[in-house]
Amino acid sequence: MTAALGGCGLASSRIHTEVFGAMAATNPPRAGGTDSGTSPASPCRHREPGPSVSFARSGLTVPWNPRHGTLLELAEACDVPVRWSCRTGVCHTCETALLAGHVDYSPEPVELPADGSALICCSTPPTDVVLDI
Ligand code: FES
Repeated sequence: MTAALGGCGLASSRIHTEVFGAMAATNPPRAGGTDSGTSPASPCRHREPGPSVSFARSGLTVPWNPRHGTLLELAEACDVPVRWSCRTGVCHTCETALLAGHVDYSPEPVELPADGSALICCSTPPTDVVLDI
């Protein structure tokens, strides 16, 4: 549509666009580093009593604490590469393979992910979990 409007002579400064859709897929790296050049690391300085959250590809296991908010926010705090868009359980961009354990949702997603996956933007771990990121 942008090209068609430009072809009709409309100045590009008058053409406004908004893109909807899934973000380009990224592949979180395996242990040894991230795209940003930093290594995943725990944001926790002390052992906490919550269930453990393992980021399998990043080679990192950290304790869960509700102050982290969601599994997505914990991953970000640990500099674990993640994908997201809506952060409210609608788009499924954050859908991640759940290798072990299960999650609770808050808010409940509009549509549950496939079996063996979790929407990490709106979930928390009631038990130990292993995520494929
Ligand atoms: S980021 Fe949209 S469902 Fe998680």
